[in-house]
Amino acid sequence: MDELEAILRSAPQDVDATQSLAELDELETRLTGRKSTLAELRRGLGKLDEKERPAVGARLNTAAGELGSLIAARRLILERQAENELLADDMVDITLPGVGHRTGTHHLITQTIDELVDIFVALGYQVASGPEIETSWHNFDALNTPWWHPSRLESDTMYVDYGDSDDELPLRTHTSPVQARVMVEQEPPVYVVVPGRCYRTDTFDATHSPVFHQMEGLAVAEGITFGDLKGTLLHFAREYFGKDQTIELIPHFFPFTEPSAELHVSCFSCNGSGCRVCGNSGWLELLGCGMVDPNVFDAVGYDSSAVTGFAFGGGIERIAQARHGVVDIRDFFDNDLRVNRQFV
Ligand code: DAH
Repeated sequence: MDELEAILRSAPQDVDATQSLAELDELETRLTGRKSTLAELRRGLGKLDEKERPAVGARLNTAAGELGSLIAARRLILERQAENELLADDMVDITLPGVGHRTGTHHLITQTIDELVDIFVALGYQVASGPEIETSWHNFDALNTPWWHPSRLESDTMYVDYGDSDDELPLRTHTSPVQARVMVEQEPPVYVVVPGRCYRTDTFDATHSPVFHQMEGLAVAEGITFGDLKGTLLHFAREYFGKDQTIELIPHFFPFTEPSAELHVSCFSCNGSGCRVCGNSGWLELLGCGMVDPNVFDAVGYDSSAVTGFAFGGGIERIAQARHGVVDIRDFFDNDLRVNRQFV
């Protein structure tokens, strides 16, 4: 019993000294488990004198109760501590900045194509397309471009197959061959736009790229006039550049249109006073256009005495440059995200 009293005296300190539930469990086993002094004394009760037994028994019970409540009280504290640690470990700081996911965007060329196409679709045009590896017939012959024309030389045009104009295969140098493809397939009236990739033997520099994009337009019906062409292009210029840009139509030559013109838009960089971007002219050449040459109608099997039409075509890069002030055409192809992200 002395031993038990000693254990009871030091028990409050011993219990308080435990730092974890595991330590407390271990101490509990030592104090109240089967091999504990308390358990041993309980087992010895039967051997005691009957007179002594009730008092000793009562003391053993109160001792067990004391130890039990000490341990229970400590357990509560340690459990709360363990829970707090768990919560601290698991805590999410909702004030920290989140992990951002940038949304991708279309390349500026694609955006420009979409916007240009939208303008013409709103006027009732349809979108047509053709192959990038063309026949010389579609790319040149049908478009009234004779075999001796210098643009057909390898110095200007890249060929998959070169030499015999009947079956040679250029990479299309413009989107105009799709004019021929559409007219061969379809009777008038025709209203199409053709955005697409083109190729020329050009050295990659600030103003040239061997791969570039064009958009072609073609309108063929009875009674179409140059006035219709001009009105359509004015509408396009106003829709795309805004009311403050000015345009001019300058006489020009293209084999497949007669008369032909070049659409100029006032330079975005100097507003027409002349600068490096526009080569001091104050104007940017945006696209070529004109009334479809009767020879083209004859080549595709249209009755050139019954229908008239206009066509236009120009570089998408150039159009996008004029609108967005992109000075170097290489910016479209370098895939530098710092450039691309400016046009989200
Ligand atoms: N295909 C011409 C070029 O690449 C541009 C062009 C001019 C297209 C006049 C046309 C047109 O449809 O009528 O330079």
